[in-house]
Amino acid sequence: MAKLNILYASEMGNAVDVADNIYLRASEQGIDAEQFEMNDVSMEDLQDMTKVLVVTSSTGDGDLPMMGEDFWDVLSQTNINLEGLEYSVCALGDRSYFNFCGAGKKVDVRMSELGAKRVADRQDCDRDIVGADEWAETAIENLGF
Ligand SMILES: Cc1cc2nc3c(=O)[nH]c(=O)nc-3n(C[C@H](O)[C@H](O)[C@H](O)COP(=O)(O)O)c2cc1C
Repeated sequence: MAKLNILYASEMGNAVDVADNIYLRASEQGIDAEQFEMNDVSMEDLQDMTKVLVVTSSTGDGDLPMMGEDFWDVLSQTNINLEGLEYSVCALGDRSYFNFCGAGKKVDVRMSELGAKRVADRQDCDRDIVGADEWAETAIENLGF
């Protein structure tokens, strides 16, 4: 069975909580899942992945948290082909910021531009992680697990 790869970037821990919850849910379903801090994933690693859930909060002005900055720098510049990859994004943010969920939005757009197939609409969470569980349930199912 394919592996579920959970890529996360967090500043204060909310996105880590969402990633942990996905991992727990997947494990309970008998899915082979692994969590990765975003910066630990190279483009070669990403190309080898077929099922990916991305969880990122936003910091600064719609920027990736520090643990996802390097990943984003490379992803935004690369021209790798991600046609073999299915994914969905959970974006954490706060509507009081101008660039609401900006980090998750740009990762979602970029992965699609590189050919990856979005299997579930992006979930935008306002301030907390409400909605992330329902999103994870749908996304895992749509990934074919
Ligand atoms: C300094 C700072 C900058 C932020 N900038 C944004 C932003 O540009 N857009 C947004 O939607 N949320 C922004 N947020 C809100 C966080 O993304 C939100 O609180 C999120 O739940 C934090 O998740 P985390 O604990 O995983 O980092 C910002 C929060 C802080 C503290």
